[in-house]
Amino acid sequence: MTPDHAHSERRPSDHRPSDHRPSDHRHGYQAGDDGFLDLLDLDADVLEDYWRASLDWVRLVAGDLDRPRVFDLGAGSGTGGLGLTLRFRDATLVAVDTSGPSLRRLREHADALGLRDRVTTIELDLDTNWPAVGPFDVTWASMSLHHLSDPTQVLRRVRDATRTAGIIAVAEFVEPVRFLREDIGVGRPGFEDRVMARLRRDHHERLPTLGSAWTPRLADAGWRVIDERDFLIDLNPPEHLDAGRYAEAWMGRLGQRLEDGLDTDDRHVLQVLLDPHDPRSLRRRTDLRIHGVRTVTLARND
Ligand SMILES: C[S@@+](CC[C@H](N)C(=O)[O-])C[C@H]1O[C@@H](n2cnc3c(N)ncnc32)[C@H](O)[C@@H]1O
Repeated sequence: MTPDHAHSERRPSDHRPSDHRPSDHRHGYQAGDDGFLDLLDLDADVLEDYWRASLDWVRLVAGDLDRPRVFDLGAGSGTGGLGLTLRFRDATLVAVDTSGPSLRRLREHADALGLRDRVTTIELDLDTNWPAVGPFDVTWASMSLHHLSDPTQVLRRVRDATRTAGIIAVAEFVEPVRFLREDIGVGRPGFEDRVMARLRRDHHERLPTLGSAWTPRLADAGWRVIDERDFLIDLNPPEHLDAGRYAEAWMGRLGQRLEDGLDTDDRHVLQVLLDPHDPRSLRRRTDLRIHGVRTVTLARND
């Protein structure tokens, strides 16, 4: 376990993934490498409306709290935890992740936001260690619980560390975001459908809780589920200047993981999509759309 404090200033809307631009998205991504962290920051930037709406909703339901302690579980580069900390007066944040580089990026963002003295980061594996980090008032767990081997046990521990009437928000996706139309003018129609089918099989094997309902797990862990909302992401066309780079970062990561399961034709399509010099690439094409649904489940510790 490695606790650390933040050291400079940043705002979520100031996230500039290009500061950390990776040289080649086709190389492998691990949680915490620059490519993965850029993807998280691009997610924050390009899907800004989703992030604002979901965090505003959590803030509204949590109500006015006196110097609340916010907990970000599997924080990544910290979009959610930092965004919530900014939404409360005098809130402090404890952000936990297995990845030291992610927490370093989070601290850079915290610095830029002027949250230097209000953020503590702890590098730990939630599946194994559980230091006395509470008490908490608001917990944000975004796209992280499905990585854990026993998420219900972790949810139970979070509840034990949560003050009475404190809340938890679990944000997950049923389907990852999608970017392409049926016919993209290269290869056979239906390329993204085939990649998604391959991805579903991969997830089924590696991350069996991904896409499952979180309400029963929260209830099993002793939480009272109070509300659940689907946030529709449908940017058609996406106006954000980094939409192409976001699509490239997603597809590059998927491609690296799934390439072996694609046939020769689809591997060629992937190559074209990831080649920034090709006019048909994700970075340069003009027919992108971004579509997906993220579900946020809110529960209270009564
Ligand atoms: C898909 S990212 C989501 C990051 C961030 N919550 C967001 O929504 O942008 C999942 C994060 O969970 C972290 N993670 C995965 N397994 C973990 C574990 N066992 N303990 C702590 N963190 C973990 C990863 O390092 C990664 O930063």
